[in-house]
Amino acid sequence: MSARVTAVVLAAGAGTRMKSSRAKVLHEIGGRSLVAHALTAVRDVGAATTVTVVGHDREQVSAAVTDLDPTIVQVVQEEQRGTGHAVQVALDALAEEPEGTVLVTYADVPLLTGQTLSELVLTHRHAQNAVTILSAEVTDPTGYGRIVRDESGAVQAIREHKDASDAERALREINSGVLAVDAAFLARAVGALETSNAQGELYLTDVVAKAVAEGRPVGAHVLEDVWQTEGVNDRLQLARLGAELNRRTLEHWMREGVTIIDPATTWIDSAVSLEADATVLPGTQLLGATSVASGATIGPDTTLRNVEVGAGATVVRTHGSDAVVGPDATVGPFAYLRPGTELGAGGKIGTFVETKNAHIGDGAKVPHLSYVGDAEVGEGSNIGAGTIVANYDGVHKHRTVVGKHARTGSDNVFVAPVTIGDGAFTGAGTTVRDDVPPGALAVSAGEQRIIEGWVQRKRPDTASARAAAEANDEEPPR
Ligand code: UD1
Ligand code: MG
Repeated sequence: MSARVTAVVLAAGAGTRMKSSRAKVLHEIGGRSLVAHALTAVRDVGAATTVTVVGHDREQVSAAVTDLDPTIVQVVQEEQRGTGHAVQVALDALAEEPEGTVLVTYADVPLLTGQTLSELVLTHRHAQNAVTILSAEVTDPTGYGRIVRDESGAVQAIREHKDASDAERALREINSGVLAVDAAFLARAVGALETSNAQGELYLTDVVAKAVAEGRPVGAHVLEDVWQTEGVNDRLQLARLGAELNRRTLEHWMREGVTIIDPATTWIDSAVSLEADATVLPGTQLLGATSVASGATIGPDTTLRNVEVGAGATVVRTHGSDAVVGPDATVGPFAYLRPGTELGAGGKIGTFVETKNAHIGDGAKVPHLSYVGDAEVGEGSNIGAGTIVANYDGVHKHRTVVGKHARTGSDNVFVAPVTIGDGAFTGAGTTVRDDVPPGALAVSAGEQRIIEGWVQRKRPDTASARAAAEANDEEPPR
């Protein structure tokens, strides 16, 4: 038997119960669309060709599939006449007759793993079956196709719920919908399907009885892990499977040596990666392609999307996206890292600091209450508390460059474009409008003026006036 696998992913259904303008299979759990979960599992099987059958919302679904993998063959099923028809349409779209095994799976079953699919294909090939069903024993089989076996336990047929007798409806072994089928047999069998059933559809599942009638071996691979067979039809199932996927993801990372203090309030997307001895504190969401290196601590109450966190770094109560936090750097509490933020090794982005498109060098610090946008801060520099980089003149964004080992004062405004040289200083309250040469001190605030007795004259009979009088040893004003 040829080891070649052709995968067919069915994604033409309407998904009406989602009540969404977005195609059902484009809804996400674990930061990945349902169809992407399905295609990721299929990819792990190493299929020579993958065909996705689209129909409802085909523009949306097609675009997403192309995005994921442009080599996937896409075929449109204009009218949804049943799963057998969908497979027929898929086979018709192939340039050559498939050989080996055809693996049929659904785009809306997100917990199904590549490992399970591979095991199904192996079992199928090993037994030299015409059809091998991925089945499961469930407590409530309502709605599913039932696996009908004879007295010896040999699979005879799949009976759809709507076509089943009462005795058959009592069967709790169900068809997950995933089948491995001998390619040559399938090509023949789908051509001979009929619509003489309760739904007037071409049932793919009828190929089982056909194989049995031809005396071909048929089997079922019973999956213990029932979650993997569950599909998403509405938003309740989406949330339920999303929570289970998250539980599995957390369990995986804990087994890999990551400390997760509170799994109940921690969410980690499927594409996130963490190294052993990373620590995740309660209330943390690690999303997208975020990565966390060894010894880093994230949280509590932190959301990071596509953020790379270096070894030993600490990120506390922070919201960040598309950013890099260097090794041993510290961020937060209450920091907002916007796209393009890059913090160097041992650097600091502190409390109530917002950064955007900002490179903050090794050991450089922006500790308090600042906005740093479109800027470069050289290594070892310290930006004073309350500094605002005025990067936007209302029309264009401009860059600010601070050299290395600079010390800028509190409550500064850097009016971009402007450059502050290496080792330069600025005084408190400075508005930097022009470049500061290396090693210079810039001050822009005028000299302080003292107007003696102003409060007594202008604010008599106030607590301030009385306090001033007392301090100055004067008669309290009347
Ligand atoms: C199907 C199976 C049933 C199994 C159940 C598991 C058949 C006849 N029945 O039933 O044995 O227990 O799945 O969930 O196969 N689709 C198309 N084109 C079509 C029809 C369906 O692409 O013309 C796609 C749907 O988008 C969906 C999948 O195939 O992803 C299954 O279709 P659905 O109508 O949900 O099948 P069920 O009636 O639930
Ligand atoms: Mg149906």
